[in-house]
Amino acid sequence: MARAASDTDFGFRKVPLSEKQGLVDDVFHSVARRYDLMNDLMSGGLHRAWKDVLVATVNPPKGDRPFAHLDLAGGTGDVAFRVAKAGGPETKITVADINTEMLAVGRERAEKLGRGDIEFIEGNAERLPFPDKSYDCVTIAFGIRNVPQIDLALKEAYRVLKFGGRFLCLEFSSVDVPGLDRLYDLYSFNVIPQVGRAVTGDAEAYRYLVESIRKFPKPTVFADMIRNAGFGRVSYEKLTGGVVALHSGWKL
Ligand SMILES: C[S@@+](CC[C@H](N)C(=O)[O-])C[C@H]1O[C@@H](n2cnc3c(N)ncnc32)[C@H](O)[C@@H]1O
Repeated sequence: MARAASDTDFGFRKVPLSEKQGLVDDVFHSVARRYDLMNDLMSGGLHRAWKDVLVATVNPPKGDRPFAHLDLAGGTGDVAFRVAKAGGPETKITVADINTEMLAVGRERAEKLGRGDIEFIEGNAERLPFPDKSYDCVTIAFGIRNVPQIDLALKEAYRVLKFGGRFLCLEFSSVDVPGLDRLYDLYSFNVIPQVGRAVTGDAEAYRYLVESIRKFPKPTVFADMIRNAGFGRVSYEKLTGGVVALHSGWKL
């Protein structure tokens, strides 16, 4: 059957572009309460090390220098709490996410951690509710592949950054170590949905997550997309044999 020009990937399925966000929202609504536990179980705790690399690269100032940080698709606040811990008293952090349930979990965690100063704002990465040139750094961790129009989200990240600001994106990528690739596939397609079913009651949500990783552009292609949004000095680094890549771009 011919596909409409506006069809897009939702995991391995093709869906109309206008329907993807609703499907993504259902996934995260369904798993929000168990999301953090599942991250630890699925990655064997590795997501913590990957996020630590991200935050070390953000390198927020320790002293009194003001630093405005935006964590896009920040969900339950994992990256935000790490940036807050690494930064000084003038590091101001905003989490933006489209999903109210993920944000609600994030706000509860912030209260428990005594980080009520972190803002949790409902917003779509494709149309951010923030003025131009308002942030020193914009991060997005494991979020960009869920956004239906990635090019719009990259342009928005560029728009809200100040000149001299940095964009950093942590995302699952393509494993290119012979042997590890097959093991990774076996684990992803067989183990993760089953663990997802046991922990969240929703195997389909985790099937989508695994499939969406396979559909995400290769690191060189994604680097070009970041350049096309206007960023300069674009680079990337692969972590854990390419399971994850950290892309960086500057607003120059
Ligand atoms: C895999 S979670 C990542 C959460 C968090 N960044 C982390 O690393 O733990 C993906 C997040 O992207 C959010 N998301 C999906 N589409 C979005 C959009 N268009 N704008 C903003 N957030 C979006 C989801 O609601 C979800 O919280």
